[in-house]
Amino acid sequence: MAFEKTKWVWLNGKLIPFAEAKIDATAFGLHYGVGVFEGQRAYDTAHGPALFRNREHLERLAASAKTYQLDFPYSLDELTAAICETVTANGFKNCYVRPTAYFDGGSLGIRAVNPVSLSILTWEWNSDFAAQQEKGMRLTVSPWRKFHQSMLPTTAKATGNYLNSILAVREAAARGFDEALLLNAEGNVAEGAVENVFIIKDGKLKTNDERASILLGITRRSAIEIAQHFGFEVEIGTLTLDEVKAADEMFLTGTAIEITPVREIDGQPIGNGKRGVLTEKIQQAYFDIVRGKVPQFMHWLTPVQQALPAAA
Ligand SMILES: Cc1ncc(COP(=O)(O)O)c(C=O)c1O
Repeated sequence: MAFEKTKWVWLNGKLIPFAEAKIDATAFGLHYGVGVFEGQRAYDTAHGPALFRNREHLERLAASAKTYQLDFPYSLDELTAAICETVTANGFKNCYVRPTAYFDGGSLGIRAVNPVSLSILTWEWNSDFAAQQEKGMRLTVSPWRKFHQSMLPTTAKATGNYLNSILAVREAAARGFDEALLLNAEGNVAEGAVENVFIIKDGKLKTNDERASILLGITRRSAIEIAQHFGFEVEIGTLTLDEVKAADEMFLTGTAIEITPVREIDGQPIGNGKRGVLTEKIQQAYFDIVRGKVPQFMHWLTPVQQALPAAA
């Protein structure tokens, strides 16, 4: 992840040079983690760069913002136009898009409701996970549990939530693993640090939902819809660690890693310890869909040029 090619950042209604996009030292969001954000992507397609499931991402951003009373004065169409303007100004074809709304400076009293700022940061991103997407990831069960939904709303994508994920990934990396698998307060599987979990057993998919204290990922939703499109059954329910370890196949979903197989948990192979056949089928469909190669799924893409504001 590098910002060398990021020349412009959208902040509170206008594009400003990257070097000028600074945060106020008194920003409430910085001190107390009260911000909400999205992680979305633009992929290069035959029709130029296109945003993948932009509407769903912005709807989740709006829902997260509502949870924390972060009222920003932009419609989702205006935000879409702003994202497209930012991607275009930077000349990106494949990039990551990070809209963030946060309480800005004013008061640092914990009851304060400060003005809301909204930034859109983009950076060029060609997929970095090719090797793991083919061979599968090595996971470890984290000693850090996912915080329970009664403690913080896990379906809101809030900046402060990532303290939990960061502790988990650092601990897993220190022990030589690719990614952490977090159990929830009940001891069942919640999710990866920044990914949702799927297993496949006897040809049937299974994943959990918000009752397991997870973020409802948009890649998760896409994987469910792709699997159903192929006629596979998808069960939604509690995932125990035992059933995950006994699965024929396992994969993680997330905007960054897309659909990536898991080959082992704490040294124990999942299935035959390789990318599973059904995982590969769903994964390949996802890769084709995000690049605009599957007519039935073109409605998941927003071409950047078409959604540009008229003035840009
Ligand atoms: C905690 C957590 N779970 C799951 C996901 C996957 O969500 P998505 O597929 O929308 O990227 C993410 C990534 O944003 C995450 O941070």
